[in-house]
Amino acid sequence: MFFLFYYLLLLCTFAESHTYTDQPKPEKNGQELLLCRKCGTDIADSYYLFSKSSPGAQKVEKQNLFGRQNVTVQSLVNPFGVKFEIVTIEKTRCKIIGSPQGADSWFPGYTWRICACPHCGQHLGWVFESTEDGNIAEPQRQSFHGLILSNILGENFTDSLIMMPKMYKM
Ligand SMILES: *[C@@H]1O[C@H](CO)[C@@H](O)[C@H](O)[C@H]1NC(C)=O
Ligand SMILES: *[C@@H]1O[C@H](CO)[C@@H](O)[C@H](O)[C@H]1NC(C)=O
Ligand SMILES: [Zn+2]
Repeated sequence: MFFLFYYLLLLCTFAESHTYTDQPKPEKNGQELLLCRKCGTDIADSYYLFSKSSPGAQKVEKQNLFGRQNVTVQSLVNPFGVKFEIVTIEKTRCKIIGSPQGADSWFPGYTWRICACPHCGQHLGWVFESTEDGNIAEPQRQSFHGLILSNILGENFTDSLIMMPKMYKM
């Protein structure tokens, strides 16, 4: 009964989240939508994942994730000693919170702000914004986002969810 309830609840959230159409979706090439793990709202498309390593990363790995090969996953630690595994992505539908913070940025030349779920407010990662223009030979990317892996899901996760409902109880 409990599981059935969660299943129905999930169906509702996904039905709702898939009605967003603010921008044309890129062609489907096996990539997946990335969802907020807490509420199921779609927040990004794995099409836009790209590799950007922080010089402060404790560990950088390539993983096959969200329908993409060799996605750069890096472990970063904040000044409070909290460790995050993040993926970098060109753009998301995050709600951006606060003013740009320059101190302790994981990416030199970029400030950071909090990126939260536009639906439930869950902290999903950060947006990094350039403070430099770079140079003509190597222009600096204006901004990109870092998403916390443990706070997002690929849309195809729901397939396995139906087979293994206990996973939702994490
Ligand atoms: C996700 O599911 C869709 C629809 O079933 C499928 O077309 C796509 O290939 C799947 N992607 C991955 C990475 O399994
Ligand atoms: C991923 O990495 C493997 C091993 O280095 C390589 O053979 C493969 O072509 C890469 N795939 C993509 C899409 O870059
Ligand atoms: Zn959410």
